[in-house]
Amino acid sequence: MKRYDFDTCIDRRGTACEKYEDLMTIFGTDRVIPLWIADMDFATADFIVEAMHKRMQHPIFGYTFRPRCYHEAICGWMARRGEWQIDPSWIAFSPGVVAGVTFAMLSCTEPGDGVVIQPPVYHPFANTIRNNGRKVLNNPLIQDPEGEGGCGGYRIDFEDLDAKLSQARAMILCNPHNPTGRVFTKGELLKIGELCRKHDVTIISDEIHCDFIFRPHRHLHIAALNDDLANRTVTLIAPSKSFNVAGFSTAAAVIPNAERRAAYQAEMDKIHIENGNIFGAVALQTAYEQGDEWMNQLLEYLQENVDFVYEFIQKELPSVKCYKPESTFLMWLDFRAWGMTQEELNRFLVEEAGLGLGDGSIYGAEGTGFERLNIGTPRSVLERALSQLAEAVQKRGL
Ligand SMILES: Cc1ncc(COP(=O)(O)O)c(C=O)c1O
Repeated sequence: MKRYDFDTCIDRRGTACEKYEDLMTIFGTDRVIPLWIADMDFATADFIVEAMHKRMQHPIFGYTFRPRCYHEAICGWMARRGEWQIDPSWIAFSPGVVAGVTFAMLSCTEPGDGVVIQPPVYHPFANTIRNNGRKVLNNPLIQDPEGEGGCGGYRIDFEDLDAKLSQARAMILCNPHNPTGRVFTKGELLKIGELCRKHDVTIISDEIHCDFIFRPHRHLHIAALNDDLANRTVTLIAPSKSFNVAGFSTAAAVIPNAERRAAYQAEMDKIHIENGNIFGAVALQTAYEQGDEWMNQLLEYLQENVDFVYEFIQKELPSVKCYKPESTFLMWLDFRAWGMTQEELNRFLVEEAGLGLGDGSIYGAEGTGFERLNIGTPRSVLERALSQLAEAVQKRGL
């Protein structure tokens, strides 16, 4: 069987790569190892690149539509990876997952309506709610590292969720959850579903990370759990994270309910954005038709990266709390024991450790004192980054 290479370090400079070439703007210096934005450093799978070359051999790139085989590729992937049988007619286009979340939100809410999110959570959710004149209703995850919740002890405060949903028209669910790495269980999803039904709230389920699931955890698509959930949910998926093809701006919304689908489509029609681009369609179809083995091997590699980081931190940096994520290629590091403000922490990491991590406070107040570490990179990069961190910690006597 072919072994894919995740160990080679590829120089990404010169490709207008945000992760490597926007460092001055984000960190005020370009002398950091960039481990921030959720973009992996691995080469996109060779079969996707080949499919791209093949399409390029035809010299005309005019208007195209997404053919039946494109939709069937999505159905096949969802059935094989997530045991969700979907109908091709349920699939709508989106030029990105956040764009899809936004179209879904616009299709089921009015200005002033409340939308629930669960911080610390992917920050563009709050931005899109506010930018579109809706109201952010926070249902913070509770963290109890000694308790029974998943990684890091993060669990849902259902009493608060009940109260927040009573004022809401929509909930943006992030499952798997970025940045905590939780994969919500069937029990949790059914409880969310019951409460959304009680308050007649639409669920917008961002499942962009659903291909990254570490054993023994299992991703369940909330819309697949029962008929009510199928009818009240818009699910967003994409190959962008899984196959490192975010630059193609191609995602899909799965909307089983015909009225909801029409409402979603109507929002897209308002800005005439249905076309997408040829290469995104080729990349998605190829990834979902041929990507199983690549994804399996990537997951093995990422699991080893998780184990490596976790063990290093336990041994060399015990004052940093670190959890093994159930999903994603992101690790959520807790630096609160150092007693620094977020600004001091960021400055220490950039200036003394030479690391460009993701500032935890952007995910909501609950993320203060945390940093998000992107482990979607060759192990040698992580080795170097963690050694730099350990050295800086030692120098400072932390
Ligand atoms: C939970 C989540 N949703 C959406 C996105 C971005 O999706 P897109 O670039 O397709 O809008 C990310 C990227 O990090 C993410 O983590």
